[in-house]
Amino acid sequence: MSYIDSPPPRSRLLRLYFLSLLFFTLTASEDPLAILSRFQQYLRINTAHPNPNYYEAADFILSHAKSLSLESQTLEFVKGKPLILLKWPGKHTYLPSILLNSHTDVVPAEHHKWTHPPFDAHLDHNGLIYARGSQDMKCVGLQYLEAIRKLKSDGFEPARTVYLSFVPDEEIGGHDGAEKLADSETFKKMNVGIVLDEGLASPDENYRVFYGERCPWWLVIKATGAPGHGAKLYDNTAMENLLKSIESVRRFRAAQFDLVKAGLKAEGEVISVNMVFLKAGTPSPTGFVMNLQPSEAEAGFDIRVPPTVDQASLERRIAEEWAPASRNMTFEFKQKVSVYDKFGKPSLTVTDSSNPWWALLEGAVKKANRKLGKPEIFPASTDARYFREQGLPAIGFSPMANTPILLHDHNEFLNKDEYLEGIDAYKSIIKTYASFVEHTRDGASREEL
Ligand SMILES: *[C@@H]1O[C@H](CO)[C@@H](O)[C@H](O)[C@H]1NC(C)=O
Ligand SMILES: [Zn+2]
Repeated sequence: MSYIDSPPPRSRLLRLYFLSLLFFTLTASEDPLAILSRFQQYLRINTAHPNPNYYEAADFILSHAKSLSLESQTLEFVKGKPLILLKWPGKHTYLPSILLNSHTDVVPAEHHKWTHPPFDAHLDHNGLIYARGSQDMKCVGLQYLEAIRKLKSDGFEPARTVYLSFVPDEEIGGHDGAEKLADSETFKKMNVGIVLDEGLASPDENYRVFYGERCPWWLVIKATGAPGHGAKLYDNTAMENLLKSIESVRRFRAAQFDLVKAGLKAEGEVISVNMVFLKAGTPSPTGFVMNLQPSEAEAGFDIRVPPTVDQASLERRIAEEWAPASRNMTFEFKQKVSVYDKFGKPSLTVTDSSNPWWALLEGAVKKANRKLGKPEIFPASTDARYFREQGLPAIGFSPMANTPILLHDHNEFLNKDEYLEGIDAYKSIIKTYASFVEHTRDGASREEL
């Protein structure tokens, strides 16, 4: 029987009309073109340092939050640096929540070195979207929201509360962004149980995943010694004393690097040491005085320390070998991030069965027909460290497989299909995490479904 024979009552027609309207609105907003166009809009907001347009990014995110009926608040720990916090309330408010973190700022771009302008978000005929932030990490921020859009249109209701934080300033250390958030009263009240934050693109088909990161120690060593004529040979000059240290640092660097070259350790698992400045000599109008041995000499090193190493033994090495007082040397740290969290445990997120969030992530990614690589230590720093410092598990994950690592590079791009698939990966992860009710973080209280 066809409905043409017996016309449906008016009320039903109206209902059908509204239903189809809703359907078309939803499908229209979930159309891949609409999804990509939202990504492009976000990428076109210039949030590059030193003058990131944070308010425009905030407005953009807030308008999304509104369209998704998420609760939102703007926190301004530091004036001019808005941090957007969104909330999708779960049914069981006593369960620890999930925090999906992303930063809104990007590093600067040298416009003339790009094939497409870095803030045009040009989509080329190969499906590549060129933009600063396409990998690091506007993709992730928006993928979270798109995944939630899909879950909402499926009618999914989270058991756990899901928070999203869009934080400023990650690229300049995160002190006015994620660090302030992690230290705040607001954060305590959020009762966070697990944090997801950024990872790196993966050139192969497995997503990369990070369970910790190396801690930056920025070391300056200084040597002093008696000045003297450039022609005179004598012991214990500042230069000689400094060079002994540099030689010792170089031997250590080579030994660490050899482990990586031999394939015995990954980049994130060794201590890297790179000399970043040398400061010595007596300036003259034409350069430096050539016949004088100076009384002071300095060198700076960027050291990155994996949380798996014994911090005390490295400290000893610095004090005894690299800048020994017995050689009239002193040292200071321009920055020294502890490898321990505030409870004195290594700042690492466990990736075995004792951490349910780990197994859930693996399972959720598998459900999305993707695979995770071996968990790694992030070679540089991200905001995740501020959450690990609070003793929380935090996993670094940016779903970009089959993608060259182009963060901070010229011509940063992301393939549109990889972006769209990443949304499905997050959809699976967020659904799995937000449905998980068996254990709480401390394992003390349990609840049966
Ligand atoms: C350290 O400085 C003192 C005082 O200037 C000097 O007598 C001594 O030889 C120096 N020692 C070394 C190892 O440079
Ligand atoms: Zn980043």
